[in-house]
Amino acid sequence: MKSQLRGKHLLSTADWSNEEIETLLITAERLKLDNTLGRYHDDICRAQSLFMLFFEESTRTRNAFECGITQLGGHGNYLTPKATQIDHGETAKDTIDVLARMGHGIGVRNTLVGGHQWMAELARHSNIPVYNMQCDIWHPTQALADLMTIREKFGTNLKGKKFVISWTSAGNYMRPLSMANNLVELMTRTGMDVTLAHPEKFDLLPVALEHARRNAEASGSKFEIVHDMDEACKDADVIYAKGWGPIMTVGDDEAAGVKMIEENPGWIVDSRRMALGKPGAIYMHCMPADRDIEVTSEVMDGPQSAIYDEAENRLHTIKALMALTMGNVNGKN
Ligand code: CP
Repeated sequence: MKSQLRGKHLLSTADWSNEEIETLLITAERLKLDNTLGRYHDDICRAQSLFMLFFEESTRTRNAFECGITQLGGHGNYLTPKATQIDHGETAKDTIDVLARMGHGIGVRNTLVGGHQWMAELARHSNIPVYNMQCDIWHPTQALADLMTIREKFGTNLKGKKFVISWTSAGNYMRPLSMANNLVELMTRTGMDVTLAHPEKFDLLPVALEHARRNAEASGSKFEIVHDMDEACKDADVIYAKGWGPIMTVGDDEAAGVKMIEENPGWIVDSRRMALGKPGAIYMHCMPADRDIEVTSEVMDGPQSAIYDEAENRLHTIKALMALTMGNVNGKN
């Protein structure tokens, strides 16, 4: 167990060792149990401030961080570029040099192209932990909550389980690649066999695929890419399905991306596809999900769905993250 995590940033799960991730998950499990028993931990981040800087909207991430810091005894400051001087051009360096004089941690969501670069610049100048609340490349706090959920359902020995992350035909706009990127990076480290399914030309970022291949080799598991959703779902233990844009093919050309999504209908999770998985298979989605487009309501609200457990586990994993990296641990403040 790695107990010395104070001050550590979380920009990507790839920056955290398996031991550090294990420490975070064990802490989250403990905090969840204590929450159930009505035991509070409002001494861990007492009188601390967390800055929550959102370039875009959020339901789960914002509220998991804000409820989490409150439960740990601190306070969350909700910020947007417009509510700060960032919109007037104040740099990441100047922003963090000021905020770090006042508070104890900062989370940033910026899924626009360059979002990761912006928060990495912030982190370079920051002496308080910086948390990636989702960027254009990674969504680490969601992936950690997903792994916690899978461990609750299947136990901690995941060797040989089949994890599927599949694309879905979610149109209207181009969703970022960050969720799928992060899932292939993290789940290949667990011993699970990971299948990535998507139509041709909907590739993930090369950096995520490189991590996935390397991690699968190190953990002795398999990582494969297929272009057929039925083939992917066969014998699956976990079917995780959500849409993303063909950003690697069209860049930021939204109209071309939406057209390509519309050319690939039928990538939806329904009861027939769930039945292709193993008995006891679970359905996962980070939410928000497009009901009856990405997944039928029957599956989403059915007995195999783990989506609300995943959403709840955002709170527990994020609390563990803040407790370990921001908290008044080891008697220091
Ligand atoms: N899954 C997720 O990040 O949800 P929000 O966009 O609501 O934060």
